[in-house]
Amino acid sequence: MTRTALVIGIGAGDPGHITVGAIEAMRAADALFVLDKPNAGTLTGIRQEIVDRYAPGVPVVLVPDPPRDRSAERGASRPDGAYTAHVSDWHDARAAALATAIVEHVLEGGSAGFLVWGDPSLYDSTLRVLERVAATVPLVPRVIPGITSVQALTAAHAILLNRVGEPIHITTGRRLHEDDGRNTVVMLDADCTFRATAEPTDHIYWGAYLGTPDEILIDGPVGEVGERIVRARAEARERHGWIMDVYLLRRP
Ligand SMILES: C[S@@+](CC[C@H](N)C(=O)[O-])C[C@H]1O[C@@H](n2cnc3c(N)ncnc32)[C@H](O)[C@@H]1O
Repeated sequence: MTRTALVIGIGAGDPGHITVGAIEAMRAADALFVLDKPNAGTLTGIRQEIVDRYAPGVPVVLVPDPPRDRSAERGASRPDGAYTAHVSDWHDARAAALATAIVEHVLEGGSAGFLVWGDPSLYDSTLRVLERVAATVPLVPRVIPGITSVQALTAAHAILLNRVGEPIHITTGRRLHEDDGRNTVVMLDADCTFRATAEPTDHIYWGAYLGTPDEILIDGPVGEVGERIVRARAEARERHGWIMDVYLLRRP
């Protein structure tokens, strides 16, 4: 008999982002699994707060996330094939750790819940990892969508994501140099890559710790606010020990 994998988007940091569907799914799960990253204290705390508030009593199982060799993935010179292979090995290790935990905590026919930051469709590996888990432990996935950090960013700045009739591109700091920069959301950028790619007149809408009490928002032309963002990011990262930030670049 198979188990159900409830892949639950929990929003990007604000417990108010949780949907009614997410609450129902959390309550329906026999256990909720969280891949526990090193230095993810605050994030794990926010997830625990969400469970305490909306699904008290449902056990939370922290699965230690297998270590990832960050040195192996940085740098534009790194060939994409090698990057993909590295991520694939890491996903295999995560799948093995999760398979063990699921069998231990959820009976056949039961439901395993996965709390996913933001929405499971956006730069998140949960669905990919669960596909690998399903090779050894049969699982049927059901996705409950969540509010993404991109939506949290546009809401915080009270702006539209796209301009009239224009496309929008979502990319990572690592790939930003390939983008035309007209209307681009940038995620996973530890290096403030906009400094190397943006024109001084490009408008940047930047947000960190969106939806949390520590939220920081800055916007303006890159030439005017770029260095302020770099400083604010470094200071906040130093103070909190971690940072999550996302930005929209818009060419006038
Ligand atoms: C691994 S991705 C996960 C994205 C997530 N699935 C979503 O729907 O937003 C992590 C990146 O999302 C962005 N992010 C997530 N939560 C954020 C928040 N509360 N504030 C700012 N950026 C956030 C950052 O760019 C971070 O590097």
